[in-house]
Amino acid sequence: METATTIVQVRQKVSLARKEGKTIGFVPTMGALHEGHASLIRTARERDCFTVVSLFVNPKQFGPREDFHLYPRPLQADLRLCETAGAALAFHPSAEEIYPLGFQTSVEVEGLGEALCGRARPGHFRGVTTVVLKLFNQVLPDIAFFGQKDAQQALILRKMVRDLDVPVEMVICPTVRETDGLAMSSRNRYLSPLERERAPGIYQALLELKQEIVQGARDASELAGRLRQRLKAIPGAELDYADLMDTRTLAPVGRLQGEILAAVAVRFGSTRLIDNLLVQAP
Ligand code: PAJ
Repeated sequence: METATTIVQVRQKVSLARKEGKTIGFVPTMGALHEGHASLIRTARERDCFTVVSLFVNPKQFGPREDFHLYPRPLQADLRLCETAGAALAFHPSAEEIYPLGFQTSVEVEGLGEALCGRARPGHFRGVTTVVLKLFNQVLPDIAFFGQKDAQQALILRKMVRDLDVPVEMVICPTVRETDGLAMSSRNRYLSPLERERAPGIYQALLELKQEIVQGARDASELAGRLRQRLKAIPGAELDYADLMDTRTLAPVGRLQGEILAAVAVRFGSTRLIDNLLVQAP
C-alpha cells in the first residue's frame, strides 16, 4: 500500500492508477479505524477499485466543546488496517494541507443538516460537506463508500452530490456491529466498562421498535414515545433524540407507510453514541 500526505501526491498516484484503466474507489474517514471502516474498504475492493482511504480528523465538523483534540489518532494501526483490508493508497494530510491560511469557503445542504444530530451539533454537517467535497476534488474518485451508521450524513452527502452534479457514484454500506449489537464507532473506546456493557441497549431498543412495526403498530408518535422510554430506561444513558422520519427528507411521519428511518442519539457521560434502523412498514 502507498501513502500520501499532500494533494499533489494523491493526484499523481490516482492519475497513474486511472491511466492503467482502474476504477477509483474512495473511503473518507477520520481514522481510529475499526471493522466498520474495514467493511467499506473491502466493499470497494470487491468492486475491483483502486481504493483510496483518507484519514483526516476534520476540525471544521467539531464544535468548540467537542472532542477534536481528544479524538484518537492511532496512525500506524490505521495504516495497517487499511493495508489488510485492501486499500491501495492511504491519504493522511495535515490540517494546513486541507485548510491553508485564508481558507474561507463552505458547502451547505440547506434544511437536512438542522434536524437530529444538527440540533446538538450546529455547523457539524457544513463541516462534513465542505471537507468531503474538497476530498472528492483532491482524489477525483469514481465511486465513494459511506456507512449507513451515519444515516443523516449519508443522506446529506448524497443530496450534495445530486444538487452540485458531482460525478461520483455514492455507495452506502450496512452498519457493522459488535456481536452484542452495539454499532461500531471510534467513540466506543471512550466508554467505561460498565457503560460498554449497557450500550447495546440502544440497538435492543431499535429492534423492539422494529418488532412493534412488524406486528402492525403504525402510529409514529406513539412508537417514538415508547422508543424514547426504552432508551431512557438504559441505566446511565441520557437521551439526546429518538425520531421516526421519512428516509429521504427526514420529515416527521404520522402514520407509518413504506420505509422509515428510526434514528437515535444517546449520551453516556460525555460520550455521544448514534444508531439507526431502516424499517419497512408493509
Ligand atoms: P468516520 O466517523 O471515521 O467514518 C468514516 C466512514 O465510516 C463513514 O462513512 C461512516 O458512516 C462509516 N462507518 C463508521 N462506523 C461504521 C459502522 N459501524 N458500520 C459501517 N460504517 C461505519 O464519518 C466520518 O468519519 C466523517 O464525517 C467523514 C465523512 C470522514 C468526513 O470528515
